[in-house]
Formats: sequence, C-alpha cells, structure tokens
Amino acid sequence: MKRFLILNGPNLNRLGKREPGTYGAQTLAELEAMIRAEAAALGVDVRFCQSNHEGVLVDAIHEAEDDALDGIVFNPAAYTHTSVALRDAISAVKLPVVEVHISNVHSREEFRHRTLTGAVSRAVISGLGFEGYLAALRFLAK
Ligand code: DQA
Repeated sequence: MKRFLILNGPNLNRLGKREPGTYGAQTLAELEAMIRAEAAALGVDVRFCQSNHEGVLVDAIHEAEDDALDGIVFNPAAYTHTSVALRDAISAVKLPVVEVHISNVHSREEFRHRTLTGAVSRAVISGLGFEGYLAALRFLAK
C-alpha cells in the first residue's frame, strides 16, 4: 500500500477560526477526516503532521524519506514565501512533493505570489480550498 504524509505549516491548526472568509469555516480535524476518507477510497495510507515550527517541518520531510513514504502533500503556509530551509529540504529528498494552498495565493497580496517551495515541488495547487489536498493525493496515488 502506498503511504503519504499530509504536512501542514503554521497557523493551519487554527482553520475554522482563522480568517474564515479566506480559508473557510471547516477545521483542520475536518480536513483530515476528508483526506482520510479519500485515502480509504484510493486504497492508500496517510499520516498527518501540522507544525508552527519551521525545523519540525524540515524534520518531517526528512523522516518521510527515511520511512520510505511515497510522497508528501504539503501546505507550507506562510513559510511558502520565506523559507529557504524548507525549499532545500524538498530539494534534498527524492519523493514527490505536491504543494497545496487553500486560497489562490496569486490573487492575494504580492508577497504571496512568490513560492520558494513551489519552485522545487512536483506541482502546486492553489485556490481549490480543501479540495486541493484531495486532488494532490489522487495525483500522487496514481
Ligand atoms: C496558505 C496561503 C499562505 O499565503 C498563507 O500564509 C497561509 C495559508 C493557503 O493555504 O492558502 O497560511 O498557504
């Protein structure tokens, strides 16, 4: 069975409370339940990690490779736009990473248009809401 890491960065633990006009009213637990259901339908295994700390996210990417997972669905959140460390971590591993953003970062402030991590990811999905995570998982599961 293929195995994937669903990795979420800073402030995404506040989904549901945080700027619902931008990120929706559903919580991280609800997002994870949706992904679990999709994983069951696809016949793949998923594990979840959310952290507000850059180094923890770097470690999670390394561990995914060390554990021989098959790919990562990654929303680096604000670190998307700033983190050379996360970009280097993605480049350092062989497994495919699909970057996901709930909102369309290209229709928002200019500082969100640049994605340091997306440039080294297999693909970037932005603006499909929670559906983006499911689309990324379906792609990686193939
Ligand atoms: C986000 C977009 C980022 O610009 C922002 O910093 C986030 C969430 C998204 O999912 O739309 O925290 O990654």
